[in-house]
Amino acid sequence: MRIAVLNGPNLNLLGTREPAVYGTTTLAEIEARLHDVASVLDVTVVCAQFNHEGDLIDAIHALGGRHSAPGVAPELRERADGALVNAGAWTHTSLALRDALTGVGLPFAEVHLSNIHAREPERRHSMLAAAARATLCGFGADGYELALRGLVGLLRRDRA
Ligand code: DQA
Repeated sequence: MRIAVLNGPNLNLLGTREPAVYGTTTLAEIEARLHDVASVLDVTVVCAQFNHEGDLIDAIHALGGRHSAPGVAPELRERADGALVNAGAWTHTSLALRDALTGVGLPFAEVHLSNIHAREPERRHSMLAAAARATLCGFGADGYELALRGLVGLLRRDRA
């Protein structure tokens, strides 16, 4: 099983970005942990972070088995079985992102480090949640591992 871990804008700044909200773990550390957990779960993870919305949409199309735009990184061109998505601020704004995920039928779990429901009003609504298989927020960096375990469990039950 192949799971894509897709992070949106500004998440490359984890570690130093608003540590009181997002913690001090870097994205590289989160991704390394996910690779370790993936080997325990006997799945493959491919990780990528995007600061440009169209690049993320192109990657989702490719991961969903559609035509790969020329800029899509080679490791994202192979079809994935599911995705963990932390779309950062696009969570709250991007119908295009939800349309991309539903358009290629890529099952996904939505993840956030912070509890978006306990934050400013503009962060309390997710454009993605209605299309997600599951959502998880507020566990900080640990949330990625929890969501990976949960998503793999859901997808395995689908196949059983
Ligand atoms: C976030 C929450 C979003 O509101 C914010 O824009 C982010 C990070 C989180 O992981 O808590 O960039 O997705």
